[in-house]
Amino acid sequence: MIVVNHPLVRVHMTIIRDQESTVDQFRSHLTALAHLMAFPVLQDLATESVRVHTPLAETGGERLLYEPVLVPILRAGLGLVEGFRDLIPRSIVSHLGMYRDHRTKKPVRYYSNFPLNCQAHPFVLLDPMLATGGSAVDALDYLKQEGAQDIRLVSIIAAPPGVALVESRHPDVKIFTAALDEKLDHNAYIVPGLGDAGDRQFGTLE
Ligand code: PRP
Ligand code: URA
Repeated sequence: MIVVNHPLVRVHMTIIRDQESTVDQFRSHLTALAHLMAFPVLQDLATESVRVHTPLAETGGERLLYEPVLVPILRAGLGLVEGFRDLIPRSIVSHLGMYRDHRTKKPVRYYSNFPLNCQAHPFVLLDPMLATGGSAVDALDYLKQEGAQDIRLVSIIAAPPGVALVESRHPDVKIFTAALDEKLDHNAYIVPGLGDAGDRQFGTLE
């Protein structure tokens, strides 16, 4: 697991943790975190050489060999999509619908749309919260079953049980997070965390 340690990450993180932050503040600072996370997450993307004509001369350049496939876990993962797409505008977005059953805390998958002929592309699984790890493991099982080979997992806040579960079930998947928090509470919410990431982005708090 890689904890992305940068002063700007810590500053934006403080705002999204703050219970006084509004929905629009939460969304814009989450997007800023996605921008900052994209650099380490994508730093080993494969490129190929191209030639380019400047107004003065021809020179060498590069383009991505494969466009990344962004896989947001609905709903909360949606908040990381635009930040990544700002930097990789041709990335493919493959939504994965999943919610955590309130009683069992287990993920329930309700929607998927794996892109055609993309098995060789790098996959970036997006979900701000890695709590028990159940949702991430189920999503990774699904992506691998569909043929994805290169998968990175991006979370914003991770808890130790979630990291341990993903590392044991999918040791080949690199986990990137902006913070490793202390623990889970009795409802399997991350403490200190930020509360319910879906509700805070979409204003569905009671
Ligand atoms: C949240 C979050 C993750 C999951 C993490 O989703 O976005 O998908 O919980 O928990 P886990 O690691 O214990 O599986 P939630 O069920 O709240 O759905 P929502 O995004 O639609 O609100
Ligand atoms: N899902 C959330 O949105 N927050 C948590 O703390 C745990 C799971």
